[in-house]
Amino acid sequence: MSVLIKGGLIVTSTGSYSADVLAENGKIVTIGTDLRCTADEVVDAGGKYVLPGAIDPHTHLCMPFMGTYAQDDYQSGTIAAACGGVTALIDFQIQQQGESIRQGLDRKMALAEGKVAIDYSLHPAITDPRPEVIAEVEKAILEYGTPSFKIFMVYDFRVDDATMIKLLEQTRRHGGLVQVHAENPHIIQHMNEKLAREGKLAPYYHAVSRPNIAEEEAVARAARLAEFTGSQLYIVHLSSREGLAKVKEFRSRGVGIHAETCPQYLLLDEERYKEPGFGGAKYVMSPPLRSKESNEALWAGLNSGDIQVLATDHCPFDFHGKKDMFGTDDYKKIPNGAPGIETLLPLLHSEGVVKQRISLEKMVDLLATGTAKMFGLQDKGAIEVGKDADMVVFDPTRKFTITQSKLHMNVDYNPYEGLEVTGMPELVFSRGMKVAEWRNDRVEFIGQPGHGRFIKRVPLRG
Ligand code: URP
Ligand code: ZN
Ligand code: ZN
Repeated sequence: MSVLIKGGLIVTSTGSYSADVLAENGKIVTIGTDLRCTADEVVDAGGKYVLPGAIDPHTHLCMPFMGTYAQDDYQSGTIAAACGGVTALIDFQIQQQGESIRQGLDRKMALAEGKVAIDYSLHPAITDPRPEVIAEVEKAILEYGTPSFKIFMVYDFRVDDATMIKLLEQTRRHGGLVQVHAENPHIIQHMNEKLAREGKLAPYYHAVSRPNIAEEEAVARAARLAEFTGSQLYIVHLSSREGLAKVKEFRSRGVGIHAETCPQYLLLDEERYKEPGFGGAKYVMSPPLRSKESNEALWAGLNSGDIQVLATDHCPFDFHGKKDMFGTDDYKKIPNGAPGIETLLPLLHSEGVVKQRISLEKMVDLLATGTAKMFGLQDKGAIEVGKDADMVVFDPTRKFTITQSKLHMNVDYNPYEGLEVTGMPELVFSRGMKVAEWRNDRVEFIGQPGHGRFIKRVPLRG
């Protein structure tokens, strides 16, 4: 199977140029001007961008959480991803008590088998840090192809600082990365008790209960421990100006700390929690939405290089039936999370590039090239000879109004409902196979569940 994409603007993380791209048997084999070769399919990309498929390194597919499940499974979640121009994702595998890392990975890979429509990898999330599990980290990096490990500093499956130190040591030795959900649980507990005494239990108080200082303190503590051990640390879903200030401070001291943020922390703010009735529950996620000042600080953090990756934290729960299942009279019982995987690329292009907050090349770095490097996806993340032909022919002028009913995520609402974006995927390829295409008024999935593969990642150094 071969495909020739002619006349598009190829966008890389460092520059853009017009050329043709030939892909054969799933790989990019030639890039050049006026390529005169035959192919099974020829695509005219005049006026379009040719982007590397986006990589979402933060998803929670079919994750059991807060008495229910994140609703997208490997089929619906990866179909939605493909339709949004995401051609690889790294999902979290939350370890169950008593389980080894290997057993946890096998359990999650069985859920993906035959269903996954794009390539994927897994980050083991360590919740039961028995000595044999800490020892197994070496194998996970060198044999299982999963060199990044998530730990939570909050929730009832959090780990303590001693575990964080052990994991930081192990990952430094073998070429891994520790990812942290950085919030201080004691500050949150204190606020929860205070708000309960005052009878403040509406969705709005979810944000009040998790103030910026909860993130700032946890980022600083994790960074200090990474400095102590000389390890690489990655802050997931960074949300606040104060948290970012700590990332900057430690980076300027030479600490190996990296950060990710998500569209919701750039584009939405805490005013959303004031939507009438129970509407604020749609935005109950952790960390919560912050102020407009934090939104602006995070945009600046993308441009300064202090934040290197954009991810979604895709974790959808229906507004009717899930968000309101237990939590109508207490924000603490509302499942935390929101949908995002299908809108990642259109939102960053429209709100970032079109509005001139970031360059096109920065967008490609944040969504693909930098992400692939951060997480050891050596065959992905760029339109380059030898890479997997994960490509998006992107129409930068196409208008689309975000409407839940025109998207594929398995959820009954969208946080950006009614927002018009400029720029949408026209065609999406996963290893040279067409998986999604713009038809009439939306992107349609035209791929095959089961086409996606588990990708073994390489160890990470420095
Ligand atoms: O609210 C969120 N973010 N839900 C998913 C779990 C997590 O903390 O990432
Ligand atoms: Zn988290
Ligand atoms: Zn998450």
